[in-house]
Amino acid sequence: MKDLLRLSNLSTDEIIHILDVAKECKDGKHRDECTDKVVANCFFEPSTRTQYSFNTAELRLGCRVISFNAGVSSMQKGETFYDTMKTFESFGTDALVIRSKENEYYKQLANFRCPILNAGDGTKDHPTQSLLDLMTIREEFGHFEGLKIAMVGDVKYSRVVHTNIEVMKRLGMECYVSGPKEYREPGFDFIDFDEAVRTMDIIMLLRVQNERHEQKMSLSNEDYHKYYGMTMDRVAQMKDTAIIMHPAPFNRGVEICDDAVECDKSRIFTQITNGVNVRMAALLRAWED
Ligand code: CP
Repeated sequence: MKDLLRLSNLSTDEIIHILDVAKECKDGKHRDECTDKVVANCFFEPSTRTQYSFNTAELRLGCRVISFNAGVSSMQKGETFYDTMKTFESFGTDALVIRSKENEYYKQLANFRCPILNAGDGTKDHPTQSLLDLMTIREEFGHFEGLKIAMVGDVKYSRVVHTNIEVMKRLGMECYVSGPKEYREPGFDFIDFDEAVRTMDIIMLLRVQNERHEQKMSLSNEDYHKYYGMTMDRVAQMKDTAIIMHPAPFNRGVEICDDAVECDKSRIFTQITNGVNVRMAALLRAWED
């Protein structure tokens, strides 16, 4: 059994193997290979893509799925997160897919007998999001070495950036961040946004994560869009081969204008499609010896 907690725990060979299996899943392999497995999806934070693409992945593998709803559980009577997860382990559930607001929540569950797949923890990690980003980049360019990516926007509160930079650098990519001063984080290479638009292979826009902020953003949405948003003028300045990515959900008219969401350079919905396939691969890996 294999947990998937953070990509920094995995070797590059293991990461490439997951991407290879995800490609097989996209090509139609591995359907109904896990009809004996029961998976519980336990989301303690709102989610559309991660929650329901895990659900889709599980159904494609033939698993039976429990969608835990904390709002109608005994957590409403004060039961703790640990005791709730321990209850699912005691049911004999074959895997737990968990998203939590708490960084490294999984450390509490270290002795569990079933694999844990991290569907996002606090501001720390989002391993399956990074895997689907990598799958999308590999499909587009065929390699990672030497590609330049800028992640733009709310860097400080983004678990996607934290997971992506570590793994993308290991795979030989040049990684930069850009965006408003209030969301910068020391230790990352900064690039001016308009320079990034002209020079990068990949512009990855990040959602302004209002729900995680202690203070309201100092910029208005209009000013954010003017200085850091993907407008059609900026799309026109990108390299011919360059692409736009966004983990989504996106704030239309803030990080990205309506027309850019599905423009020729956008791979946003390809990322979402690939999310199902990397999650199938992550589940198959969970039950490997
Ligand atoms: N990208 C992502 O994690 O989206 P959800 O919050 O909708 O799962």
